[in-house]
Amino acid sequence: MPADHSSPSTPQGNAFLHFFSEHQARIEQALNSSLEQRPHQQLNLHQAIRYSLLSGGKRVRPVLAYAAAAAITSTTNELIDRAACAVECIHAYSLIHDDLPAMDDDDLRRGQPTCHKQFDEATAILAGDALQTLAFELIADCDSGDDASKLQLISTLARASGDKGMVAGQAIDIAAVDSELQLDQLEQMHNHKTGALISASVRMGALATGCATEQQLHALEQYAAAVGLAFQVQDDILDVIADTETLGKQQGADQALNKPTYVSLLGLEGARQKAEALHQQALQALKPFDHSADPLRGLSAYIVERSH
Ligand code: IPE
Ligand code: IPE
Ligand code: MG
Ligand code: MG
Ligand code: MG
Repeated sequence: MPADHSSPSTPQGNAFLHFFSEHQARIEQALNSSLEQRPHQQLNLHQAIRYSLLSGGKRVRPVLAYAAAAAITSTTNELIDRAACAVECIHAYSLIHDDLPAMDDDDLRRGQPTCHKQFDEATAILAGDALQTLAFELIADCDSGDDASKLQLISTLARASGDKGMVAGQAIDIAAVDSELQLDQLEQMHNHKTGALISASVRMGALATGCATEQQLHALEQYAAAVGLAFQVQDDILDVIADTETLGKQQGADQALNKPTYVSLLGLEGARQKAEALHQQALQALKPFDHSADPLRGLSAYIVERSH
């Protein structure tokens, strides 16, 4: 699926598009190298890992990591690439498992059959498992960066992925089918299932530079909380208004499963207003930063304007 570069209404328009596509290319290359020299290449497992990790996707989380790093320093290092790869590995694993028959039971992802359709359920479960552990291996085994920074990255990613973060959100999501959540419960679900990994992406990009201050990390945390929720609000909106071909996944899947979403609770217009308010909150949080945070500002606009 090509990147959606539709109408970024940011003042830095072209510069943002350049940053986005440059870093999408960079993560593509880094992900490819992370799968080189893996063992057991002949196994279906390995094909399934490649299929799910290298099948496109907007790469929003790793680009957020790069943008957070760029807000802190203009110098780059390998640990930033490893952090960016790690968040995308966790994301890819979460999508494989999210699509399984026991979860959302989806057949289409990024315009292609879902992993369990292309291979089989056992292979899809194992590919998800392997991508999850690969994320931590990539950070732990990085030659650059000090041990304290790597430990911080691993801890941040572990907390965001497991039963304090994404996995808890997925469990709340499954338990919420056919039930009516209050708005604060829905927000909690979205913050866990999607917001946690997005927040980790931003924090990890900043931490991987090795020179982020507590003040900067705090401002970025506020920014990430807003864009993390906005991302899932827009995902809920797109499930209603987009078409299957543009989305690359089945349109109307939430309604078909009777999932509580921002649209089901607030209506389309209410959900749009929520997304816009979150975008403004994200911009506000970046006030302490100069132009170095423009990629983060552009990403916030992109997240609420994207068409897939
Ligand atoms: C979809 O994520 C799943 C959610 C958390 C809403 P993305 O919209 O980032 O999916 P890809 O990676 O671009 O396919
Ligand atoms: C998925 O949320 C969140 C995670 C994978 C953690 P959704 O179920 O809404 O994502 P899509 O719509 O299938 O991409
Ligand atoms: Mg789901
Ligand atoms: Mg789903
Ligand atoms: Mg969805």
